Formats: sequence, C-alpha cells, structure tokens
Amino acid sequence: MKMSVAGFVILIICFISFFFSISRSAGDTLNATQSLKDGDTIVSAEGSFEMGFFPPGKSEKRYVGIWYNKIATGTVVWVANRDIPLNDSSGVLKFSGQGDLVLVNGTNNIIWSSRLSRSATNPVARLLDTGNLVVGDVNGDDPENLLWQSFDYPGNTFLAGMKGGIDLRTGLERVLTSWKSPDDPSVGEYSNRLHPGGVPQILLWKGSVLRFRSGPWNGLWFSGMPNLKPNQIYTSEFVFNDTEIYYKYELINSSVVARIELTPDGALQGYIWVHRTQEWNLYIGASMDDCNRYALCGAHGSCNINNSPACGCLKGFIPKLPEEWAAADWSNGCVRKVSLDCREGEDFLKYSGIKLPDTRQSWYNKTMKLEECKRVCLKNCSCTAYANMDIRGGGSGCILWFNDLIDIRQYNENGQDIYIRLAASEIAAYRSSKGKERVRKIIILVLSFAIVLLGLFLIFVILKRRKKFRRKGAVVLNRGQEVPEERETDDLELPLFDFATLTDATGYFLMSNMLGQGGFGSVYKAWRLFNEESFIELIDESVKDSCNIAEVLRSVHVGLLCVQQSPEDRPSMSTVVLMLSSDIILPQPKKPGFYAERSLIGGDSSTGKQDTSSTNEVTVTLLEPR
Ligand SMILES: *[C@@H]1O[C@H](CO)[C@@H](O)[C@H](O)[C@H]1NC(C)=O
Ligand SMILES: *[C@@H]1O[C@H](CO)[C@@H](O)[C@H](O)[C@H]1NC(C)=O
Ligand SMILES: *[C@@H]1O[C@H](CO)[C@@H](O)[C@H](O)[C@H]1NC(C)=O
Ligand SMILES: *[C@@H]1O[C@H](CO)[C@@H](O)[C@H](O)[C@H]1NC(C)=O
Ligand SMILES: *[C@@H]1O[C@H](CO)[C@@H](O)[C@H](O)[C@H]1NC(C)=O
Ligand SMILES: *[C@@H]1O[C@H](CO)[C@@H](O)[C@H](O)[C@H]1NC(C)=O
Ligand SMILES: *[C@@H]1O[C@H](CO)[C@@H](O)[C@H](O)[C@H]1NC(C)=O
Repeated sequence: MKMSVAGFVILIICFISFFFSISRSAGDTLNATQSLKDGDTIVSAEGSFEMGFFPPGKSEKRYVGIWYNKIATGTVVWVANRDIPLNDSSGVLKFSGQGDLVLVNGTNNIIWSSRLSRSATNPVARLLDTGNLVVGDVNGDDPENLLWQSFDYPGNTFLAGMKGGIDLRTGLERVLTSWKSPDDPSVGEYSNRLHPGGVPQILLWKGSVLRFRSGPWNGLWFSGMPNLKPNQIYTSEFVFNDTEIYYKYELINSSVVARIELTPDGALQGYIWVHRTQEWNLYIGASMDDCNRYALCGAHGSCNINNSPACGCLKGFIPKLPEEWAAADWSNGCVRKVSLDCREGEDFLKYSGIKLPDTRQSWYNKTMKLEECKRVCLKNCSCTAYANMDIRGGGSGCILWFNDLIDIRQYNENGQDIYIRLAASEIAAYRSSKGKERVRKIIILVLSFAIVLLGLFLIFVILKRRKKFRRKGAVVLNRGQEVPEERETDDLELPLFDFATLTDATGYFLMSNMLGQGGFGSVYKAWRLFNEESFIELIDESVKDSCNIAEVLRSVHVGLLCVQQSPEDRPSMSTVVLMLSSDIILPQPKKPGFYAERSLIGGDSSTGKQDTSSTNEVTVTLLEPR
C-alpha cells in the first residue's frame, strides 16, 4: 500500500489541527496572546461550566456565552453579546490592546467589549466553577486582581454567589433582565432590580410598569417573598450599608446545582438539577398569584389570596369608589372612614400577618425599638404607620410611612405586624370590638371544650362496656372459677376525671393531649371572665344581632359546670340535657378543675409555664379558626 506525499501531509495537518483544537478547549483561561474562535471553548477547572460560541434555541445567530458543562448542557447562564448577534461563525473573543476582552466579527469590528474600568498590561480571563468569568491583571498590583467579572453583568440568570443590587461607591447596578424569547437572548421586557430608595426592596418591572415588589428585608427574607425563607438548600444574605446594598444566596451543599431565572414572561423561577431524572426541578414556583401583582387592591387595600374576592379594605378604611370596587376594579383602593386630624387620641391599630406596604418613600432607623418608633411616628402628623425593620429576636429597627399604604398583602403565616394610624373615634370602636371578638372566641372555645369532654365521656363509657363484655366472656370460658362481681355503675353519671378507672391508653392519651394544649388555661380564663360583670355586657353588644344571648350564656355556664374540680359539682349527662333544654336555675360555677391538678398530669415544662401565667392571651388565639 502506497500513500502519496500529499495524502501524508494532509494527514499530518489534520493531526496537528486536531491536537491544536484539543489544547484550545483544555484550559480555563484566556490570556492576552490567545483568542477564542467559534468552535473553541474554555472549561472551568472542575468542569462545571464551559464558555464558547452557541446558537440559542432555534436561532441561527451566534453568541458568546457560558453554560453548564457536565449537566444540563444547553442551559445558558450568561451571554456576552446579547443584543448584537453574530451572523456567521467568524467571531473571535480576545483581548484588545488596552486589555479589554472584546468580541470581533469577521471584518474585525468590535461588537462587544468588557470595558474595563482601568487598562491592563497583561490581562487574563478565567472561567470559575461558580460560572463567573473573571478578568485580572497578572502584572497588576491590586491584591484582589479583579478588573472585571461577568457576575457584575447578569443576564436572565441569578447564580449562587452573585450579588443582586447596587455598589454605592461605583454606582454599579446588577440587574436581572429577561430574554426576549428562548431563541433570543436580547434584553426582554422584564427586569428585576433592587430599589435603593427608602427601605430597599426588589422590584420587578415590565418595561416601566411595576409588576411585583418584594417588600423590605425583614432580617430573614423579603417581607413579600416568604418562599425565600431560611431552608436546607441555600443561605441568604442581605447587605444594606453605606457602601453596598445587595441580596445574595449560597448553596449549603456545593454539589447541588441551582439557578434562578427571570423567564421571558416575567416569572422569577428557582430550579434545582435532579441527577436522577436529569431534569431541572422547579423549587421556587414564583408563578405570580394575583396578590403578587403590585397594588392590585390600591391604596389601603389588603390582598388575601384565600379570600374571594382577594381584595379587601384595611380595618378602618372603606372603598374609595364603592361601585367600582364592587365591580372588581380595586385600583382606586380605600379611604379612611374617619380622616386624621392629628388631635389628641389618635393612635395605632395593630395588623398582623402583613406584607409591609411599599417602602420606597419610607424613613428608617436600624436600631430604634418599637416603642420609640411609635413615639416618633405619633409626634409627626404626616406619619401614617410604623413597623419593625427586623423581625428577629422579638423585633428591632423602625420603618415609618408618611403617605398612602400601597401593596399590602395578608398572609396566614410568615407575615409581619404593622401599626397603622387611625382617628381617635376609630381606635375606640376597634378596641371595644376587639374585646367582643375575644369574648366570641372564648364562647366557641368553652363550647368546643365541653364537646370534647362529652366525646371523652362517650369513649369512656364504650371502653367500660367493652371491658364488662370481655369479663363476661371469661366467665363463660372458665366455668367454675370465681369471678369478681361486676360493680354496677351508673353510666349517666359524669365520672370524667376518674383516672383510677380511666386507665385505657387511648383515653389517657386524649386526656393528656387535650390538657397539654393549654386548653385548660383558656377555660380558667373563661371562668374568670364569666364571673366579671363586664363579660355579660360585652356579650350583650357583640352577639345580640346574631344569636340568643341567654342561650349562649347558658351554654357557657353549663360548659363551665362540666369542668368543675369536684365530681359532685359536675352535672350528670341527663342533668346537662335538662339544663340546656329548660330554664332551671344553674348553680354558680366554681373555679374549674384540673387547673390546679394539671401539674400532676403533665410534668412537661411547657404546660407548666402556662399554668403560672394564666393571664397570657396566647391560649385564646390558639383556637382561632383559619
Ligand atoms: C498565554 O498562554 C500560552 C499558552 O499557555 C503561552 O504560551 C503564552 O506565553 C501566554 N501568553 C502570555 C502573555 O502570558
Ligand atoms: C449581521 O447582519 C446584519 C444584516 O446583514 C448587519 O446589519 C449586522 O451588522 C450583522 N451583524 C454582525 C455582528 O456582523
Ligand atoms: C461586522 O460588523 C460590522 C458592523 O456591525 C458590519 O458592517 C460588517 O459587515 C460585519 N462583518 C461581517 C463579516 O459580518
Ligand atoms: C458593607 O457590607 C459589606 C459586606 O458585609 C462590607 O464588606 C462593607 O465593609 C460594609 N460597609 C460598611 C460601610 O460597613
Ligand atoms: C451533597 O450532595 C451530594 C449529592 O447530592 C451528596 O452525595 C453529599 O452527601 C452531600 N453532602 C452533604 C455534606 O450533605
Ligand atoms: C436611630 O435611633 C437611635 C436610637 O434612638 C439613635 O441613637 C440614632 O442616632 C438613630 N440613627 C439615625 C440614623 O437616625
Ligand atoms: C414629618 O416627617 C416628614 C418626613 O420625614 C418630614 O418631612 C417633616 O418635616 C416631619 N414633620 C415634623 C413636624 O417633624
């Protein structure tokens, strides 16, 4: 077999160029004398990310970008020439004479440049395993040796370790912007930026229209983004000082692959790579619900996604335009029932479970305590509300609002307290209605407690019957043996807390469980209130429209009699029926039982604590229906 010289030369050339291309894609750096042609790539040291030329989606245009290398190949996290694509594969990435990283097309026209803040004599670009492309000067004397990094110019992807926000010294703003479409990485309609005014918040814009507001940072997460709560996957950091304002997250396990993307249709979505399925798994489903739409309910409106319609007015406020409001046009929001006049008696009403209103115009003090915060707000006639800045450790810091309260959301959990200024007459009205509300809750509580007792009683009776039955069976089987005679019990008596007989595990479990939840503290409280004259007065006002007061009072009364300490004081079941269905005069309830006995039952400290401070109000709200 003969090989021509020409053939041999071609083979050699192929060999050399093959080796050449291998060596091109091997490194993680690009230095001043090297260049990256279309088809070449550089790969980060551990192989996590790769940089080179690519066409996005179905597009035929070419871009320089960074994408995942080992997994999810094709998921691009950063693009250099987003708005100016290359028409062909003639592009080259290299360093300019000034040390800028530049992308040139076939006729050597610069179509993208890193624009360094200062020139570099011997620049080197390195692709890190975080997905960050950094440019440093080998000869520079800057210890940090950082002239430029792609993390400072994010596209649609927010990676772990990136800072989203503003460097107040340089004015550099790191903004997330959506792609136009999966085929077009040019800057789309949506942008996600940290607003530095007032108390900083993240704002999501569609063009110049504000679509979503994160709310201020509460020390652990953004007020309106409870899905960023501390968790097992990543830690969050929010820095807000004189030099920088930014949000950043770091993955707790560095082998986890995660990214947050601002999609072309404006959704902020967090993904985690699942190796098993080889797919991105959505873990922050920021599919915007209605209440996330900025100012959906207008000024002084409050959005609750569990309500229908979702919009309501804050307590003390009424729809500004009632007809439009009724027709689901909430944009004009709500106005005060009674306007403020800054006279004596004005005060603040507490609203809980809130996403704090827009803080772009707010004043803050990071160290002030809540009492001082209130004092400062009360002193200034134009101050409309105040709240803690940081919810950690019982709360600290102070935020003040001076104008309309916009974009409030109500959460079932993870919300925050805000104190809103109301006129003196409104405050008085809500204070008394709050009292009524509490009485209503106590009534519900006592009634439900009585029902639980009834249930327990039935369980007890059934258990006893079963026991009796089993014993009778034993008599049949062991004829001749002596069987202790069954003591006759009157099942209609109420031997509720006879622990000697109630030994069955189920019964005991129920009993201790019920008592462990502080239910009895509340019953004790109900009894105390019952004995106060004011109790009757309050009931009279609160429920006179909806039900028969005498009946309610009687139910509470009977409920209290059922939980008397001494068995003789407890009515039998038949008596209970009689008491509820007739007008017989009821004995005055004494202090409820178990209140004193509890320490004998549950030895655990949490119940013991409630024991001593029966005045605390927590127990009442525990049973509040959600
Ligand atoms: C750039 O890297 C190549 C290959 O490692 C090396 O030969 C060359 O000297 C380097 N140039 C500079 C300016 O460091
Ligand atoms: C791509 O082609 C268009 C139209 O021919 C031209 O205007 C544009 O400058 C080209 N872009 C680049 C980067 O060469
Ligand atoms: C390079 O870009 C310039 C300016 O955009 C354009 O005029 C020129 O035609 C482009 N060259 C190629 C080969 O696309
Ligand atoms: C602001 O916070 C950053 C990050 O913690 C820190 O490096 C910087 O020194 C702080 N600046 C001031 C003025 O405290
Ligand atoms: C991190 O994740 C990897 C892969 O999921 C797992 O094998 C490893 O045990 C994890 N490491 C820690 C410290 O949890
Ligand atoms: C914040 O409040 C504290 C306590 O009242 C005060 O000492 C401090 O000067 C205030 N800081 C600012 C910036 O107003
Ligand atoms: C009330 O607060 C506003 C906003 O901070 C301020 O402009 C105004 O001077 C304050 N008024 C008084 C009386 O302190």
